[in-house]
Amino acid sequence: MPAPDLSRLRALPRAEVHVHLEGCFDAPLLERWARRHGETMPRPLERLFEFQGLADFLDFLDWACGLVRTREELAEAAHDFSRRMDRSGASYADLIVNPTHWRHWVARLPEMIDALDAGFRAAEQEGLPRVGLCISLLRTQSAQAAAQVVDELVALRHPRVVALSIDGNEATAGRTGPRFADAFRRAAAAGLRRTVHAGESSGPEGVRDAIELLGADRIDHGVRAIEDPSVVALLVERQIPLGICPTSNLVLKVYPSLEEHPIDRLRRAGVPVSINTDDPALLGTSLEREYALCAEAFGWDDEVLRDVARTSIEASFAENALKAQLRERLAGW
Ligand code: ADE
Ligand code: ZN
Repeated sequence: MPAPDLSRLRALPRAEVHVHLEGCFDAPLLERWARRHGETMPRPLERLFEFQGLADFLDFLDWACGLVRTREELAEAAHDFSRRMDRSGASYADLIVNPTHWRHWVARLPEMIDALDAGFRAAEQEGLPRVGLCISLLRTQSAQAAAQVVDELVALRHPRVVALSIDGNEATAGRTGPRFADAFRRAAAAGLRRTVHAGESSGPEGVRDAIELLGADRIDHGVRAIEDPSVVALLVERQIPLGICPTSNLVLKVYPSLEEHPIDRLRRAGVPVSINTDDPALLGTSLEREYALCAEAFGWDDEVLRDVARTSIEASFAENALKAQLRERLAGW
């Protein structure tokens, strides 16, 4: 099979459903912000994006997001994200933002959402892709802190916010499904969708909890479901989509190589899988590159690529009219 053509993959109509704003800052931008605010860099620019694993990576997010102080900087970050999506050829993104990483925005969630929304609105007026926000809890947060975030989201009812999310490190947090069940139940009752990181730093039991305790509409990563056939069967039976990020799983040491990554085995078992970048700037990847890597490693033809792209559209929290448009464009690819 010839090497996949990146410009052809960029033209594949699709959405990105698992990407964090916290992971979308290029090194020169971070250096500029650090210099502006008199903050020291944790290591030299050339080695800024070297990570030892998930815990180290999450600490880095606290540093990077701690550089963002003003409304203008937040709006700029949102606008830059829309440009990144457009360069990759994605027509819609569900973007995860976790307020716990942003120390200058503590207890200012409505202001934070408003600043991001200003950036996305400006981008959309330039014809850049539509973005929905998934406001994220952290696995190591308390139930009370989670309840407060949900209270604020419910009171705000901001049209930009499409979902409640949860991310962070399940290996340090332990089993936390029960702690967050009430927050997710109340978010759903208020009309928010639910997307849950699980089966990355937790095993298949984390994926089962995401479904049974948090009512996940979609699971971020979810790849370690492969270790328990009964969890794979549950995903297939309920057709719960996984937002898979192959390069992230290699860089953050979930799998040693793409050949050992379970995305193709999950797909062939009947689990709906989409391809995503997680934290593209920090992990040195792009959406079209992730599609190309999988096509090459697993010998995917156009029919498989179209199926995976279709899953990204169906799994997204985009409005129905936009989904219908994307489906139609996909049929003509
Ligand atoms: N936040 C940003 N990237 C993440 C990941 N891969 N896992 C958990 N939380 C995250
Ligand atoms: Zn993620």
